[in-house]
Amino acid sequence: MKILNLFAGAGGNRILWGDEHEVTAVEYRDDIAACYKQQFPNDEVIVGDAYEYLETHFTEFDLVWASPPCQSHTRMARTIASRAYNKTYKNDKVRIPDMRLYGLIFFLQHMFRGKWIVENVIPFYKPLIPQTAFVGRHSIWSNVEMESVPKKKRAEILNSWKKECVVKGLDLELFQNTKFKSRKDVIVHNCMDPEMGKYLLDCVIDGL
Ligand SMILES: C[S@@+](CC[C@H](N)C(=O)[O-])C[C@H]1O[C@@H](n2cnc3c(N)ncnc32)[C@H](O)[C@@H]1O
Repeated sequence: MKILNLFAGAGGNRILWGDEHEVTAVEYRDDIAACYKQQFPNDEVIVGDAYEYLETHFTEFDLVWASPPCQSHTRMARTIASRAYNKTYKNDKVRIPDMRLYGLIFFLQHMFRGKWIVENVIPFYKPLIPQTAFVGRHSIWSNVEMESVPKKKRAEILNSWKKECVVKGLDLELFQNTKFKSRKDVIVHNCMDPEMGKYLLDCVIDGL
């Protein structure tokens, strides 16, 4: 399959996909893209904007996977806004929810002819488009048939990026030796549990 892996991050979702697929990954942060490339040297890695790449290349792929940033949709986003009112504001940034998430889903639903999966958090509001399933701590929108998968408890009790690397099966040494421009714990936390990434890809393959 030709897979477009948008908002690729460090590639948590990709880890258990194996080598039989032709994967193109798009990530706009060069340091994170370099970390992805080290893990998956055979993937084509594009450092650029995922929305733009999709608009110009969607006809080339059998499967589009998109993991757009979730910060502005989490329950924490609302907590941060409350902190601004309570003057208990930390270093947090209040964010207007990034509704391009729904533009992306609309585009894939109505204009793309292949299989697609969009992954995000469970939002603090009623989603504008109902989710297809809940897989771990993720909301999934997709045209692939799938069952929901319950959240693992262990993910909630982690308190260090190193532990999270080990639990998720990420390459601890690689993360330890990579200098990122911003917080490593956020980058590691953003990585999907590879088992969930494999489960979702298996749902696509089973439905073919
Ligand atoms: C939720 S994380 C992706 C996690 C990834 N699926 C995984 O399992 O490891 C989202 C990533 O998208 C990147 N990103 C945000 N906006 C982007 C854009 N417009 N184009 C490309 N990458 C973007 C961020 O730098 C971040 O690494």
